[in-house]
Amino acid sequence: GGKERSLAKLIQDRLPAPTRDLLHLAGRLGASLGLPVYVVGGFVRDLLLQRPNQDIDLVAEGDGLRLARALAKELGGRVREHRKFLTSMVIFTDTQGREQRLDVATARLEYYEHPAALPTVELSSIKMDLFRRDFSINALAVRLDGSFGQLVDFFGGQRDIKDKVIRVLHTLSFVEDPTRCLRAVRFEQRYGFHIGQGTEKLIKNALSLKLMDRLSPQRLYGEFRHLCEEDAPLACFTRMDQLGIWEAIAPQLGLTPTRKALLQRLQEISGWYRLLYFEEEPLPWLVYFLGLNHGLNYALTAEHYRRLGLPEALRAVVLSQREHLRSLGSQLARRQAEGAAPSALCALLRPLRLEFLLYLMAQTSDAPLQKNISRYITQWRRETADITGDDLRRLGLAPGPACGRILAAVLRAKLDGQAPTAESQLALAASLIGQEQGKEEAARPTPLAH
Ligand code: CTP
Repeated sequence: GGKERSLAKLIQDRLPAPTRDLLHLAGRLGASLGLPVYVVGGFVRDLLLQRPNQDIDLVAEGDGLRLARALAKELGGRVREHRKFLTSMVIFTDTQGREQRLDVATARLEYYEHPAALPTVELSSIKMDLFRRDFSINALAVRLDGSFGQLVDFFGGQRDIKDKVIRVLHTLSFVEDPTRCLRAVRFEQRYGFHIGQGTEKLIKNALSLKLMDRLSPQRLYGEFRHLCEEDAPLACFTRMDQLGIWEAIAPQLGLTPTRKALLQRLQEISGWYRLLYFEEEPLPWLVYFLGLNHGLNYALTAEHYRRLGLPEALRAVVLSQREHLRSLGSQLARRQAEGAAPSALCALLRPLRLEFLLYLMAQTSDAPLQKNISRYITQWRRETADITGDDLRRLGLAPGPACGRILAAVLRAKLDGQAPTAESQLALAASLIGQEQGKEEAARPTPLAH
């Protein structure tokens, strides 16, 4: 039946040559070492779904470390070993000079002793390895040594991909690892699948058993980050809400209609920002964290920060910027209404991290203000004066704090369109230097007359 299907042609037709070559190499080396070797998990799922996936996870039946070493030798790379988990990573540089990683795990042969006179059963270790995984669609493998390309499907993964179903392999899956509740939602939304009925019941069961409480903040953070890096995090957040997952993580994190609308805006604005291809990238988890905590007080936000395991190093910054934003909102609206110059808006926005700027832009319903925040993000914040400290020195100003003051004033004039060219900025600088020197004259003690 389905177990015999070969993906050799799919591999040949769909995968980029370097990936294909790696799979063949792993197969050849496995064969020469006498180790059955498979590519497993998300890579196989995405191959069947015809979606790109660069993360090659290999499993060898037997000593995976030997395979990893052989691969490293062939690829001119090195091996990082995690003996405790029987895994290793091959790190090498590809033909384009980029660093690549390959995971190699060991599946051990397992023997099941039966009592009394029954014989010992040897289970194929790849089957045991796959049985420990989260969902049927992730429990597929492709044989690489010997019959290259043979699909190994013990648990109906192929069928579930065809039926677009997320299904666990056994009833204890969410007990073994409650982060799988979030993974189920993530894969469901990413692929437009649906969580199977039995699996959904098991999720709800896990939630009512309060299994989420057992998850460490670090594990939650890992999953939260993955969710925020999806193309449509809001769809995941909404589904989590529906299933009661947010409530299980922190009761106040549920999606109110206001928060949902805000998160929708944040998703759009994040997409807009991504298309600008600026070097500076916002932290997606921070952008969405702000949206999820909209309307909550400082103490609750701080508690959620801790519960979701967000990085401690940013905690103080994030919480204080959040407070700052509360007073800033009304100030900005007032200044905008008064027709404030760009430089005045810049001065107010300057202290904010990019994530907070995106949040502010999503939050405001004042269209002209929104436009100005977007201008600040795309242009104004990057602007510098067209003249430098050297120019000021040539105009006779000694290095010192006055230099910075004058350059800042020149930049303000440039932003406000009062000194658009380098010449006009030089002229402005010269007159400002005159004023500075005037001030110094005035500040100098009057010499005694006698
Ligand atoms: N896995 C699991 N349970 C988890 C995490 C991972 O069973 N809690 C297994 C799945 O078989 C998964 C594989 O480990 O396919 C690799 O995990 P990971 O790299 O996190 O996921 P991918 O399936 O590759 O998903 P993504 O496309 O999001 O990287």
